[in-house]
Amino acid sequence: MATNPKRIPTGIDGFDKLIQGGFNEKSVSLISGAPGTGKTIFSLAFAYFGAMKYDQKCVYVTFEQPIADLEEQAIQFGWDLKKLQKDKKLHMVYIPIEGVHSETLQMIKDLVEQNNAERLVIDSISTLSIAAPHYSDIKTNYSSQAQVKYFVYDFIYTIRALGCTTLMIGELKDDNWINEEVPAEFVVDNVVVLRYFGAKGSSSRTLAIKKARKTKFDENIFPFTFAKTGIKVGQVQKVAMKF
Ligand SMILES: Nc1ncnc2c1ncn2[C@@H]1O[C@H](COP(=O)(O)OP(=O)(O)O)[C@@H](O)[C@H]1O
Ligand SMILES: [Mg+2]
Repeated sequence: MATNPKRIPTGIDGFDKLIQGGFNEKSVSLISGAPGTGKTIFSLAFAYFGAMKYDQKCVYVTFEQPIADLEEQAIQFGWDLKKLQKDKKLHMVYIPIEGVHSETLQMIKDLVEQNNAERLVIDSISTLSIAAPHYSDIKTNYSSQAQVKYFVYDFIYTIRALGCTTLMIGELKDDNWINEEVPAEFVVDNVVVLRYFGAKGSSSRTLAIKKARKTKFDENIFPFTFAKTGIKVGQVQKVAMKF
């Protein structure tokens, strides 16, 4: 008889209950959205609460911004990433795009093994895949678009084999992928979409779950807010209609 997969909570207020308590253990999830929608903060929360509440070590790989930036972003919520790194519960590494090469994947594998990490964050698959056509070991007779797709598939399969519960960030522009890494949505286990609606004087953020394998999930669109102590996924507003 099939056993229920173990759930790995993110620790994000209001989120885990939408997916039966958390992502499946060892699953690969895509956190996608346009710039500024909160993808990095969501992933930092996953890393921080993983270490603080669930005793799971995390490797956080970013191709986007220096670690000091992330530490500053996190401390405003009271998340002390410096301390977690000092205590060896979190390992953060920044690889600027020009530093990506064919050994980068092996380096990530080594970091996961050396740190006994159970959680992994890749920020972002979009930036990483920009470098893909330059990899010497990708079939050079493929078109640049096919090379990126090949790279994305290969990368996700290799990452899945590491056995971590993984979040990968995907960059969207107006709900469309900025690169050709669309196949990522097919091969990952879960897809969470963050959106931002800005207007003069008011703005709102939402979170929706687009895909969650082997999970009963809530298909509503939820408010996503920043609070003093972190991020919060709120309740769906029920609007009473009178006729
Ligand atoms: N405490 C906060 N209150 C309100 N907005 C915040 C707060 N902290 C960060 N933000 C907003 O969150 C966005 C950055 O989130 P981030 O996770 O880096 O986005 P992404 O990774 O999707 O580009 C910025 O638009 C910033 O203004
Ligand atoms: Mg980001």
